Amino acid sequence: MTLGTKTTMRAVAIDRFGGPDALAAHTLPVPDVGPHDVLIRVEYAGVGEWDPFEREGGYAQMLGVQPDFPYVLGSEGAGDIAAVGADVDRFSVGDRVYAAGFLNPKGGFYAEYVAVDADLVAPVPPQLTMEQAGVVSGVGVTALRGLDDTLALEVGHALAVVGASGGVGHLAVQLAKRMGARVLAVASGRDGVALAEQLGADAAIDGRAERTADAADAFAPDGLDAVLLTAGGTVAKKAVDRVRPGGRVAYPTGVQPVPDERPDLTISNYNGEPDREIIERLSRLIGTDPLDVHVAHTFPLDEAAQAHRMLDQHYLGKICLRVGAG
Ligand SMILES: NC(=O)c1ccc[n+]([C@@H]2O[C@H](COP(=O)([O-])OP(=O)(O)OC[C@H]3O[C@@H](n4cnc5c(N)ncnc54)[C@H](OP(=O)(O)O)[C@@H]3O)[C@@H](O)[C@H]2O)c1
Repeated sequence: MTLGTKTTMRAVAIDRFGGPDALAAHTLPVPDVGPHDVLIRVEYAGVGEWDPFEREGGYAQMLGVQPDFPYVLGSEGAGDIAAVGADVDRFSVGDRVYAAGFLNPKGGFYAEYVAVDADLVAPVPPQLTMEQAGVVSGVGVTALRGLDDTLALEVGHALAVVGASGGVGHLAVQLAKRMGARVLAVASGRDGVALAEQLGADAAIDGRAERTADAADAFAPDGLDAVLLTAGGTVAKKAVDRVRPGGRVAYPTGVQPVPDERPDLTISNYNGEPDREIIERLSRLIGTDPLDVHVAHTFPLDEAAQAHRMLDQHYLGKICLRVGAG
C-alpha cells in the first residue's frame, strides 16, 4: 500500500437517482482493496452512453437492487496502480493500466481511486494514450463481442455498421476491417462520414441524410452478410432489410427501438460483458494494429454533469473525464 495516510478521495457521486444535476462533488473514503482487486489511481474515466440510465436508477430497478448512496458512477477508466490485493501477482504498484468495471460493486471510475477485480484490468497498450485507454474498454469490448462472438464475422463478409461514428461503431469499423470484412459505415453527419472514411471504411454514408437502402444495394448487390446496429429506428430497419437470407444481425442491449424479427435471419442481442479473456483479446488487437480511439471532448471530473448533457448532443467517438494527474 503506497497511499501513505490518504484515506479519502475526490469523487463525483449521486445522492439520489435523477438528472445530470444529481452529479455532485464529494469527498469519499478510498475503497477497500480485496484480495483479488487492484486499486487504480484514476487519470481518465470514460463517460458511457449508458451512464445516464444508471444515474436515473434504470439498472437498479432492472436488477432489483437498492444501492448505497453516495453512489459513484463510471464503468471504465485508466490510471496507475496504487495498491494490489494479497492474491494478485500479475500487477505491481505503478503499472499503467486500463479497466472495465460495469456496475462495479466498490464504486465507479468517476473518482480518484477505484478498486476493481484484477481480471478486469490490463496494461495500457503502448499504442494508446492514457486518455484513449480510459474510454476504450466498454465500447471496445462491446464492438468485439458483437463482431467476433455474435456475428462470427469472416474474411470477405459485407458488413454494415449502423452508428459508425459513435463509441461502439467507430471501433467496430476498425476491428471489422482488420478481421478482413468489407465495411459500409452508416455514420451520423458529414463529420461522422469523414471520421468513418479516415478509419478505413470501404464506403460511408450519412444515415441521417442519405438513403441507407440504396447505399447497401450499391455496396452489396447480393445482400449484406451482416449488420452491427449501434443505433435503432428507421436507419436500422433499412439496413436489416438489405441482409441476405441466412445473414446475421447483432445489437447490444440498449439499442432502441429493437429491430423487428425476420424469419430468414439470425437477429441477436448481446452484452459487452467484460472478462479477462476479452480484455486481453482487445489489447492484443490494439497491439498488433493500433485502434484510433476518438475522444470528442474531455471534461474535468467536476464537470461530469456537463459531460452527461453532452451525451444528448451530436458528437463523434467518446466523451472523457480527466480525474487525476493526466
Ligand atoms: N449492452 C451492452 O453491453 C452495451 C454496451 C455498450 C453500448 N451499448 C448500447 O449500444 C448503443 C451504442 O452505444 P455507443 O456507446 O456507441 O453510443 P453512441 O456513441 O451514442 O453511438 C450511437 C451512434 O449512432 C448514431 N446515430 C443515431 N442515429 C443515426 C442514424 N440515423 N444514422 C447514423 N448514425 C446514427 C449517433 O449519432 P449522433 O451523435 O448524431 O447521435 C451515435 O454516433 C447504445 O444504445 C448503448 O446503450 C450496450
